[in-house]
Amino acid sequence: MEFSGKVALITGASVGIGRATAMLFAQKGAKTILLDVNFEKLEEVKKEISEYNNNVLIYKCDVADEKSVNEVVTDAITKYGKIDILVNNAALWRNFEPFEETTTEKWHTFFNINVFGTVFLSRAVTPYMKSNNYGRIINIGSVAGVYGNRNMAMYSATKGAIISLTKAIAKELAPYNILVNCVSPGTVSNSSNPDITFTEPSELSYLGRTGSDIENANIICFLASDKNGYITGENVIIDGCRKKI
Ligand SMILES: NC(=O)c1ccc[n+]([C@@H]2O[C@H](COP(=O)([O-])OP(=O)(O)OC[C@H]3O[C@@H](n4cnc5c(N)ncnc54)[C@H](O)[C@@H]3O)[C@@H](O)[C@H]2O)c1
Repeated sequence: MEFSGKVALITGASVGIGRATAMLFAQKGAKTILLDVNFEKLEEVKKEISEYNNNVLIYKCDVADEKSVNEVVTDAITKYGKIDILVNNAALWRNFEPFEETTTEKWHTFFNINVFGTVFLSRAVTPYMKSNNYGRIINIGSVAGVYGNRNMAMYSATKGAIISLTKAIAKELAPYNILVNCVSPGTVSNSSNPDITFTEPSELSYLGRTGSDIENANIICFLASDKNGYITGENVIIDGCRKKI
């Protein structure tokens, strides 16, 4: 199978794109390490995955908590010996308010989870990837980080930071055969819907519909696979040709 012998860590794996990505890696033979603050949902995902792949570890972990992130990575390395693939998917995003009403406290929360979470995980796995001279880091951005979304200043700023972080560390890690890319979705169908193929009509794209969780997972898995050996430092937009922001 495509990911036999590979170990993939996915954050925010309880629902939506993270869950679909975890399922796809597991179907393709990877051992998976799944992190989320929502442990109950994560247990459900483990149960689903265990029907076809028993190599799945789950951890309750807040990605904004550096100590907790380091403990999880150390424990997972003890159990699986390595981490080949990291998908930084966990994020906070459902918040819509005018810029002038945003509080400093909320700005910190957004940056702590979306940006520092990505930094902590990426920094924790890098030494292990370097020592294996192999790695794939996929960060989940957003079209908001490219165009800026109205009434989503905090979220847009964090996703812009993730896109530039991707480009910067791709250059540093290329000599170690670690490829770092970003996937930026447009509108995706509601992540609480367990149907990973579900789409619905949307005025926001010329394709006239939302994207599905599995469409996003497919791009993530491609960038993480050995089919991709030469794309790094890129931000891949998957938005059905977006009309307006
Ligand atoms: N759904 C969309 O329309 C859309 C569009 C563009 C980008 N994205 C991005 O895709 C990714 C997944 O979004 P989604 O809508 O599929 O899922 P979601 O936002 O519904 O769920 C995210 C998951 O991350 C977890 N999480 C949140 N904070 C966490 C933390 N501090 N530590 C650990 N886990 C945490 C949540 O419990 C949840 O399981 C996010 O990075 C999001 O910004 C989504």
